[in-house]
Amino acid sequence: MSANSVSLAYLVAAVLFILTLKGLSSPTTARRGNMFGMIGMAIAVLTTLSVTHNWQYILIAIAVGGGIGALVARRIEMTAMPELVAAMHSLVGLAAVLVAMAAFNNPVAYGIALPGELLHGSNRIELFIGTFVGAITFTGSIFAFGKLSGKLSGRPLRFVGQHWLNLALGIAMLAFGIAFFLEPSWTPFLIMTAIALLLGVLLIMPIGGADMPVVVSMLNSYSGWAAAGIGFTLNNNMLIIAGSLVGSSGAILSYIMCKAMNRAFFNVILGGFGGEAAVASEDDGVQKTHRSGSADDAAFLMGNADSVIIVPGYGLAVARAQHAINEMSKALTEKGVKVRYAIHPVAGRMPGHMNVLLAEAEVPYEQVVEMDEINNEFADTDVVLVIGANDVVNPAAKNDKSSPIYGMPILDVYKARTVLVVKRSMATGYAGLDNDLFYMDKTMMVFGDAKKVVEDVIKALA
Ligand code: TAP
Repeated sequence: MSANSVSLAYLVAAVLFILTLKGLSSPTTARRGNMFGMIGMAIAVLTTLSVTHNWQYILIAIAVGGGIGALVARRIEMTAMPELVAAMHSLVGLAAVLVAMAAFNNPVAYGIALPGELLHGSNRIELFIGTFVGAITFTGSIFAFGKLSGKLSGRPLRFVGQHWLNLALGIAMLAFGIAFFLEPSWTPFLIMTAIALLLGVLLIMPIGGADMPVVVSMLNSYSGWAAAGIGFTLNNNMLIIAGSLVGSSGAILSYIMCKAMNRAFFNVILGGFGGEAAVASEDDGVQKTHRSGSADDAAFLMGNADSVIIVPGYGLAVARAQHAINEMSKALTEKGVKVRYAIHPVAGRMPGHMNVLLAEAEVPYEQVVEMDEINNEFADTDVVLVIGANDVVNPAAKNDKSSPIYGMPILDVYKARTVLVVKRSMATGYAGLDNDLFYMDKTMMVFGDAKKVVEDVIKALA
């Protein structure tokens, strides 16, 4: 392919990637968005292959990597998605480091230096940035994967002088980067990479489990910037554009998640929330009583209501109850009940978790309403069914200034006339906090696995 055709093909792919992001912003256009992404990626890969020597090796790598990816994607549980994403990001980080090493090892082959010439100053800076961001992403993502999958403790790990050590390492890494810039050789390059690998672990260690999804999204952003950095080194516009799109969308997503949890971004990065919250919840010394009922009671209350709002949470995903809940909604709609779903932006364990589950069960989009749109309708609603959700409906976020989640926007379920809560026990949710909603007079707890309870409700409705 001529240089012009390559640029044109990359431009088309870049436009398709932008259309992908636009499409993914709404459930109704998400499939189309994904399709644009796949076409864009196919164009980008084929164009790159057309200008690559030894493309056979790349095809073998694509076949092996793609095969493993397809297998993992088939097997993965929806609830394990955040840890899978973390694992994937670690590979992007590693790829950035390896490409930088290969480019430094043989800059002539990469077209960034003429034979006998030293690396250009700008290339040294790009290699430095691509390598350290990639290395931090690599080990940070592995550590995040360990925490999210439960292989490592979710508690924040801290020690005295941690921030100072990180600062000292950051300065040392910069110093070796400058040494590499002044005199490009392997020694400063490798020391800088080793420090960045260590920093990746040290930066993620003090962050608690509850903040991990934000960290994953932040690492996603880093991996995008690492790819963009390498794009500059390789003079590949496609990589620069795709990397920047990933980098900026990851940064925006981290910001949105922090906002939805009422967390300051820098507090998340400096760590601690998950562990503190768990401690705060342990005991407040007050004996509280709750009311419980059966699936039949729940069916009676919902079947006789004019309007029902369903609030899904993490437990719905664990129980894989999305199809059952759709069946239940249909049964209620047939009885003339107005049914809607209220979606909190951080319900579940990853952005859009509930939207994805409900879309999978083919819940009509018009029934799925975001928090800001539905919040002032709870007061006029007969019955709210909270299913496997906890933190996102905890009134402490509104009325308890000492609560670690104080200020986090919640779904105003406590304003509804009757509240039904389906969960297995009185256990806390992810933030480790007790929930006063469960002890209100208007609340009836229905204990059991979400799927089992909903199936029983469907039987009772029939
Ligand atoms: P949680 O507060 O985690 O509560 C989930 C509830 O589901 C638990 O209390 C659990 O109670 C119940 N449950 C678990 N398995 C169940 C099953 N099989 N059947 C029925 N119930 C089951 O969930 P949430 O309200 O969705 O809140 C999400 C939390 O994650 C928030 O704290 C949020 O800040 C945090 N978070 C989310 C994100 C994103 S992006 N989504 C990012 C960062 C943090 P039992 O054990 O008693 O059943």
